[in-house]
Amino acid sequence: MLEKIDLLIKEIEGLKAGSAADAENLRIKYLSKKGLVSVLFDEFKNVPPQDKKAVGMALNQLKNMAQDTIQKLKDQFEQAGFDTGKTDLTLPGTSAPIGGRHPLSVVRNQIADIFGRLGFTIAEGPEIEDDWHVFSALNFPPEHPARDMQDTFFIHKNPDILLRTHTSSVQVRVMENQQPPIRAIFPGRVFRNEAISARAHCIFHQVEGLYIDTDVSFADLLQTLLYFAKEMFGQDTRIRLRPSYFPFTEPSAEMDISCTLCGGSGCNMCKHTGWVEILGCGMVDPNVLDNCNIDSKKYTGFAFGMGIERITLLKYQINDIRLFFENDVRFLEQFKSAQ
Ligand code: PHE
Repeated sequence: MLEKIDLLIKEIEGLKAGSAADAENLRIKYLSKKGLVSVLFDEFKNVPPQDKKAVGMALNQLKNMAQDTIQKLKDQFEQAGFDTGKTDLTLPGTSAPIGGRHPLSVVRNQIADIFGRLGFTIAEGPEIEDDWHVFSALNFPPEHPARDMQDTFFIHKNPDILLRTHTSSVQVRVMENQQPPIRAIFPGRVFRNEAISARAHCIFHQVEGLYIDTDVSFADLLQTLLYFAKEMFGQDTRIRLRPSYFPFTEPSAEMDISCTLCGGSGCNMCKHTGWVEILGCGMVDPNVLDNCNIDSKKYTGFAFGMGIERITLLKYQINDIRLFFENDVRFLEQFKSAQ
Protein backbone atom coordinates (compact mmCIF):
# COMPACT_ATOMS: atom_id res chain seq x y z
CA MET A 1 0.00 0.00 0.00
CA LEU A 2 2.70 2.43 1.01
CA GLU A 3 4.53 1.70 -2.22
CA LYS A 4 1.42 2.36 -4.29
CA ILE A 5 1.06 5.68 -2.53
CA ASP A 6 4.68 6.58 -3.22
CA LEU A 7 4.34 5.71 -6.87
CA LEU A 8 1.22 7.82 -7.22
CA ILE A 9 2.93 10.79 -5.52
CA LYS A 10 5.80 10.61 -7.99
CA GLU A 11 3.35 10.32 -10.88
CA ILE A 12 1.34 13.32 -9.77
CA GLU A 13 4.46 15.41 -9.18
CA GLY A 14 5.30 14.99 -12.86
CA LEU A 15 1.85 15.97 -14.16
CA LYS A 16 1.52 18.63 -16.85
CA ALA A 17 -1.55 20.16 -18.46
CA GLY A 18 -1.75 22.00 -21.79
CA SER A 19 -5.14 23.57 -21.22
CA ALA A 20 -7.81 24.10 -18.61
CA ALA A 21 -9.64 21.09 -20.02
CA ASP A 22 -6.52 18.92 -19.58
CA ALA A 23 -6.27 19.98 -15.96
CA GLU A 24 -9.93 19.15 -15.39
CA ASN A 25 -9.40 15.69 -16.89
CA LEU A 26 -6.52 15.14 -14.46
CA ARG A 27 -8.77 16.12 -11.58
CA ILE A 28 -11.29 13.54 -12.71
CA LYS A 29 -8.60 10.90 -13.21
CA TYR A 30 -7.13 11.27 -9.73
CA LEU A 31 -9.58 13.01 -7.45
CA SER A 32 -13.12 12.18 -8.56
CA LYS A 33 -15.11 9.50 -6.70
CA LYS A 34 -13.66 6.72 -8.83
CA GLY A 35 -10.30 8.45 -9.27
CA LEU A 36 -6.96 6.77 -8.53
CA VAL A 37 -6.52 8.56 -5.22
CA SER A 38 -10.04 7.90 -4.04
CA VAL A 39 -9.71 4.22 -4.94
CA LEU A 40 -6.78 3.93 -2.54
CA PHE A 41 -8.95 5.40 0.19
CA ASP A 42 -11.47 2.67 -0.51
CA GLU A 43 -8.73 0.07 -0.02
CA PHE A 44 -7.86 1.53 3.37
CA LYS A 45 -10.35 -0.75 5.11
CA ASN A 46 -8.20 -3.74 4.09
CA VAL A 47 -5.06 -2.39 5.73
CA PRO A 48 -4.05 -4.42 8.84
CA PRO A 49 -4.69 -2.50 12.07
CA GLN A 50 -1.00 -2.13 13.01
CA ASP A 51 -0.29 -0.32 9.68
CA LYS A 52 -3.41 1.85 9.69
CA LYS A 53 -1.69 4.84 11.30
CA ALA A 54 1.23 5.06 8.85
CA VAL A 55 -0.91 4.33 5.80
CA GLY A 56 -3.58 6.81 6.91
CA MET A 57 -1.01 9.59 7.21
CA ALA A 58 0.51 8.74 3.82
CA LEU A 59 -2.92 8.69 2.20
CA ASN A 60 -3.80 12.11 3.55
CA GLN A 61 -0.47 13.45 2.36
CA LEU A 62 -1.16 12.04 -1.10
CA LYS A 63 -4.62 13.54 -1.24
CA ASN A 64 -3.39 17.00 -0.17
CA MET A 65 -0.52 17.08 -2.64
CA ALA A 66 -2.77 15.82 -5.45
CA GLN A 67 -5.32 18.56 -4.73
CA ASP A 68 -2.60 21.25 -4.55
CA THR A 69 -0.84 20.13 -7.70
CA ILE A 70 -3.96 19.87 -9.82
CA GLN A 71 -5.30 23.19 -8.49
CA LYS A 72 -2.00 24.85 -9.49
CA LEU A 73 -2.32 23.38 -12.97
CA LYS A 74 -5.82 24.86 -13.19
CA ASP A 75 -4.74 28.26 -11.82
CA GLN A 76 -2.24 28.70 -14.65
CA PHE A 77 -5.13 28.97 -17.08
CA GLU A 78 -7.35 31.03 -14.79
CA GLN A 79 -4.73 33.77 -14.73
CA ALA A 80 -4.10 33.56 -18.45
CA GLY A 81 -7.74 34.49 -18.69
CA PHE A 82 -10.38 34.02 -21.23
CA ASP A 83 -10.56 30.34 -22.14
CA THR A 84 -11.72 29.18 -18.72
CA GLY A 85 -15.20 30.48 -19.41
CA LYS A 86 -15.22 32.06 -15.94
CA THR A 87 -14.54 35.66 -16.96
CA ASP A 88 -17.72 37.45 -17.93
CA LEU A 89 -16.65 40.31 -20.14
CA THR A 90 -20.18 41.74 -20.19
CA LEU A 91 -20.13 42.56 -16.46
CA PRO A 92 -19.93 46.29 -15.64
CA GLY A 93 -16.48 47.41 -14.42
CA THR A 94 -15.78 48.41 -10.82
CA SER A 95 -16.39 52.12 -10.60
CA ALA A 96 -14.18 54.41 -8.50
CA PRO A 97 -16.34 56.08 -5.82
CA ILE A 98 -16.83 59.78 -6.53
CA GLY A 99 -16.40 62.13 -3.58
CA GLY A 100 -18.42 65.27 -2.92
CA ARG A 101 -17.44 68.81 -2.05
CA HIS A 102 -17.54 69.93 1.56
CA PRO A 103 -20.68 72.01 2.20
CA LEU A 104 -18.53 75.03 3.12
CA SER A 105 -16.76 74.79 -0.25
CA VAL A 106 -20.11 74.46 -2.01
CA VAL A 107 -21.42 77.64 -0.38
CA ARG A 108 -18.15 79.50 -0.80
CA ASN A 109 -18.30 78.76 -4.53
CA GLN A 110 -21.92 79.87 -4.71
CA ILE A 111 -21.03 83.17 -3.00
CA ALA A 112 -18.10 83.68 -5.39
CA ASP A 113 -20.36 82.90 -8.33
CA ILE A 114 -23.08 85.36 -7.29
CA PHE A 115 -20.65 88.23 -6.76
CA GLY A 116 -18.73 87.19 -9.85
CA ARG A 117 -21.84 87.97 -11.89
CA LEU A 118 -21.71 91.52 -10.49
CA GLY A 119 -18.07 91.90 -11.55
CA PHE A 120 -16.38 91.08 -8.23
CA THR A 121 -13.05 89.27 -8.57
CA ILE A 122 -11.45 87.11 -5.85
CA ALA A 123 -8.36 87.98 -3.82
CA GLU A 124 -6.73 86.23 -0.87
CA GLY A 125 -4.40 87.24 1.92
CA PRO A 126 -2.30 85.55 4.63
CA GLU A 127 -3.82 83.90 7.69
CA ILE A 128 -0.88 84.96 9.87
CA GLU A 129 -1.05 88.73 9.92
CA ASP A 130 0.34 91.77 11.65
CA ASP A 131 -1.47 94.26 13.84
CA TRP A 132 -1.53 96.88 11.09
CA HIS A 133 -3.55 94.86 8.58
CA VAL A 134 -5.99 93.34 11.07
CA PHE A 135 -6.51 96.32 13.37
CA SER A 136 -4.57 99.57 13.04
CA ALA A 137 -5.18 100.30 9.36
CA LEU A 138 -8.83 99.44 9.93
CA ASN A 139 -9.19 102.29 12.40
CA PHE A 140 -9.26 100.19 15.58
CA PRO A 141 -8.28 102.46 18.47
CA PRO A 142 -5.50 100.94 20.61
CA GLU A 143 -7.89 100.14 23.46
CA HIS A 144 -10.56 98.46 21.30
CA PRO A 145 -11.89 95.29 22.97
CA ALA A 146 -11.43 93.16 19.82
CA ARG A 147 -7.67 93.45 20.31
CA ASP A 148 -8.03 91.79 23.67
CA MET A 149 -6.28 88.45 24.25
CA GLN A 150 -9.76 86.95 24.58
CA ASP A 151 -10.43 87.19 20.87
CA THR A 152 -7.07 87.17 19.18
CA PHE A 153 -4.54 84.37 18.93
CA PHE A 154 -1.05 85.86 19.08
CA ILE A 155 2.01 84.04 17.81
CA HIS A 156 4.87 83.55 20.28
CA LYS A 157 3.39 86.17 22.59
CA ASN A 158 4.41 88.79 20.05
CA PRO A 159 1.64 91.41 20.07
CA ASP A 160 2.39 92.31 16.46
CA ILE A 161 2.08 88.84 14.89
CA LEU A 162 -1.33 87.22 15.08
CA LEU A 163 -3.90 85.00 13.37
CA ARG A 164 -6.35 87.21 11.54
CA THR A 165 -9.68 87.53 13.34
CA HIS A 166 -11.50 88.66 10.20
CA THR A 167 -10.91 88.83 6.45
CA SER A 168 -11.09 92.63 6.54
CA SER A 169 -7.29 92.45 6.66
CA VAL A 170 -7.36 91.53 2.97
CA GLN A 171 -9.18 94.81 2.20
CA VAL A 172 -6.17 96.66 3.50
CA ARG A 173 -3.70 94.60 1.48
CA VAL A 174 -5.68 95.06 -1.73
CA MET A 175 -6.10 98.82 -1.23
CA GLU A 176 -2.42 99.21 -0.45
CA ASN A 177 -1.53 97.56 -3.74
CA GLN A 178 -4.21 98.79 -6.10
CA GLN A 179 -5.92 102.08 -6.91
CA PRO A 180 -9.72 102.21 -7.51
CA PRO A 181 -11.87 101.03 -9.10
CA ILE A 182 -11.68 98.02 -6.79
CA ARG A 183 -14.41 95.40 -6.82
CA ALA A 184 -13.41 92.15 -5.13
CA ILE A 185 -14.36 89.54 -2.55
CA PHE A 186 -11.94 87.88 -0.13
CA PRO A 187 -12.83 84.42 1.13
CA GLY A 188 -10.71 82.75 3.79
CA ARG A 189 -10.22 81.23 7.23
CA VAL A 190 -10.29 83.35 10.35
CA PHE A 191 -9.40 82.58 13.96
CA ARG A 192 -10.88 83.70 17.26
CA ASN A 193 -10.12 82.52 20.73
CA GLU A 194 -13.66 81.40 21.52
CA ALA A 195 -15.08 78.38 23.30
CA ILE A 196 -16.35 75.81 20.81
CA SER A 197 -20.12 75.30 20.92
CA ALA A 198 -23.02 74.56 18.57
CA ARG A 199 -22.95 78.21 17.48
CA ALA A 200 -19.28 79.21 17.60
CA HIS A 201 -15.93 77.77 16.63
CA CYS A 202 -12.40 79.08 17.05
CA ILE A 203 -11.71 78.56 13.34
CA PHE A 204 -14.27 79.57 10.76
CA HIS A 205 -14.57 81.07 7.31
CA GLN A 206 -15.57 84.51 6.10
CA VAL A 207 -16.12 86.22 2.80
CA GLU A 208 -15.35 89.92 2.75
CA GLY A 209 -16.47 92.21 -0.05
CA LEU A 210 -15.08 95.59 -1.09
CA TYR A 211 -16.19 98.05 -3.75
CA ILE A 212 -14.36 101.36 -4.15
CA ASP A 213 -14.86 103.88 -6.91
CA THR A 214 -16.03 107.44 -7.44
CA ASP A 215 -19.61 108.00 -6.27
CA VAL A 216 -20.24 104.63 -4.60
CA SER A 217 -23.22 105.14 -2.29
CA PHE A 218 -25.13 103.31 0.42
CA ALA A 219 -27.83 102.59 -2.20
CA ASP A 220 -25.26 100.56 -4.17
CA LEU A 221 -24.46 98.58 -1.04
CA LEU A 222 -28.13 97.90 -0.36
CA GLN A 223 -28.85 96.81 -3.92
CA THR A 224 -25.80 94.55 -4.07
CA LEU A 225 -26.71 92.82 -0.83
CA LEU A 226 -30.38 92.44 -1.81
CA TYR A 227 -29.29 90.78 -5.05
CA PHE A 228 -26.97 88.48 -3.10
CA ALA A 229 -29.66 87.50 -0.57
CA LYS A 230 -32.21 86.67 -3.26
CA GLU A 231 -29.74 84.67 -5.32
CA MET A 232 -28.48 82.76 -2.29
CA PHE A 233 -31.69 82.12 -0.36
CA GLY A 234 -34.41 82.44 -3.02
CA GLN A 235 -36.27 85.26 -4.76
CA ASP A 236 -38.83 85.67 -1.96
CA THR A 237 -36.12 86.59 0.54
CA ARG A 238 -36.45 90.03 2.16
CA ILE A 239 -33.64 91.94 3.83
CA ARG A 240 -33.43 94.60 6.53
CA LEU A 241 -30.50 96.65 7.74
CA ARG A 242 -30.04 97.63 11.37
CA PRO A 243 -27.62 100.37 12.42
CA SER A 244 -24.46 98.93 13.96
CA TYR A 245 -20.84 99.80 14.67
CA PHE A 246 -17.55 98.71 13.12
CA PRO A 247 -14.42 100.85 13.47
CA PHE A 248 -13.70 100.61 9.74
CA THR A 249 -17.11 101.54 8.34
CA GLU A 250 -19.26 104.63 8.80
CA PRO A 251 -22.20 104.34 8.74
CA SER A 252 -22.26 100.65 9.66
CA ALA A 253 -25.09 98.15 9.59
CA GLU A 254 -25.95 94.55 10.22
CA MET A 255 -28.10 92.82 7.68
CA ASP A 256 -30.89 90.37 8.47
CA ILE A 257 -32.77 88.22 6.00
CA SER A 258 -36.30 86.87 6.40
CA CYS A 259 -36.03 83.54 8.23
CA THR A 260 -35.09 80.71 5.90
CA LEU A 261 -37.09 78.21 7.95
CA CYS A 262 -40.44 79.95 8.52
CA GLY A 263 -40.23 82.62 5.81
CA GLY A 264 -40.79 85.38 8.37
CA SER A 265 -43.81 84.20 10.35
CA GLY A 266 -41.68 83.31 13.40
CA CYS A 267 -40.14 80.04 14.57
CA ASN A 268 -37.47 78.67 16.90
CA MET A 269 -34.62 79.35 14.49
CA CYS A 270 -35.37 83.10 14.24
CA LYS A 271 -36.37 83.25 17.91
CA HIS A 272 -39.86 84.21 16.74
CA THR A 273 -38.70 87.49 15.20
CA GLY A 274 -39.00 86.38 11.56
CA TRP A 275 -35.44 87.63 10.88
CA VAL A 276 -31.94 86.13 11.05
CA GLU A 277 -28.68 88.07 10.93
CA ILE A 278 -26.25 87.20 8.15
CA LEU A 279 -23.60 89.89 7.79
CA GLY A 280 -21.99 93.17 8.78
CA CYS A 281 -21.47 96.00 6.33
CA GLY A 282 -21.05 99.72 5.86
CA MET A 283 -19.41 102.54 3.93
CA VAL A 284 -15.63 102.35 4.19
CA ASP A 285 -14.47 104.89 6.79
CA PRO A 286 -12.43 107.69 5.10
CA ASN A 287 -9.67 107.07 7.68
CA VAL A 288 -9.24 103.55 6.31
CA LEU A 289 -8.96 104.83 2.72
CA ASP A 290 -6.34 107.36 3.81
CA ASN A 291 -4.42 104.68 5.76
CA CYS A 292 -4.20 102.67 2.54
CA ASN A 293 -3.13 105.59 0.32
CA ILE A 294 -6.48 106.00 -1.38
CA ASP A 295 -7.74 109.55 -1.74
CA SER A 296 -10.83 109.73 0.49
CA LYS A 297 -11.87 113.04 -1.12
CA LYS A 298 -12.09 111.43 -4.50
CA TYR A 299 -13.28 107.92 -3.71
CA THR A 300 -15.94 106.27 -1.61
CA GLY A 301 -16.71 102.60 -1.11
CA PHE A 302 -18.62 99.96 0.73
CA ALA A 303 -17.53 96.78 2.47
CA PHE A 304 -19.32 93.79 3.90
CA GLY A 305 -18.28 90.61 5.68
CA MET A 306 -20.15 87.37 6.29
CA GLY A 307 -19.44 84.01 7.92
CA ILE A 308 -19.61 81.12 5.46
CA GLU A 309 -20.59 78.69 8.24
CA ARG A 310 -23.51 80.88 9.17
CA ILE A 311 -24.74 81.18 5.59
CA THR A 312 -24.43 77.39 5.20
CA LEU A 313 -26.28 76.69 8.49
CA LEU A 314 -29.13 78.89 7.36
CA LYS A 315 -29.21 77.63 3.79
CA TYR A 316 -29.30 73.94 4.74
CA GLN A 317 -31.01 74.34 8.12
CA ILE A 318 -28.19 72.73 10.07
CA ASN A 319 -28.19 73.38 13.80
CA ASP A 320 -24.61 72.70 14.89
CA ILE A 321 -21.51 74.39 13.49
CA ARG A 322 -19.25 71.60 14.81
CA LEU A 323 -20.60 69.24 12.13
CA PHE A 324 -18.56 71.17 9.55
CA PHE A 325 -15.29 70.27 11.26
CA GLU A 326 -15.88 66.67 12.31
CA ASN A 327 -15.76 65.34 8.74
CA ASP A 328 -18.21 62.55 9.46
CA VAL A 329 -18.88 61.11 6.00
CA ARG A 330 -22.51 60.39 6.91
CA PHE A 331 -22.98 64.17 7.26
CA LEU A 332 -20.82 65.15 4.30
CA GLU A 333 -22.41 62.63 1.92
CA GLN A 334 -25.67 64.53 2.10
CA PHE A 335 -24.09 67.35 0.10
CA LYS A 336 -22.87 65.11 -2.72
CA SER A 337 -25.42 66.40 -5.17
CA ALA A 338 -24.75 70.08 -4.42
CA GLN A 339 -22.35 71.56 -6.93
N1 PHE B 1 -15.08 92.22 9.77
C1 PHE B 1 -16.39 92.23 10.33
C2 PHE B 1 -16.53 91.01 11.28
O1 PHE B 1 -15.70 90.16 11.27
C3 PHE B 1 -17.46 92.16 9.28
C4 PHE B 1 -17.48 93.40 8.41
C5 PHE B 1 -16.77 93.45 7.24
C6 PHE B 1 -18.24 94.51 8.77
C7 PHE B 1 -16.82 94.57 6.43
C8 PHE B 1 -18.30 95.63 7.99
C9 PHE B 1 -17.58 95.65 6.81
O2 PHE B 1 -17.47 90.90 12.02
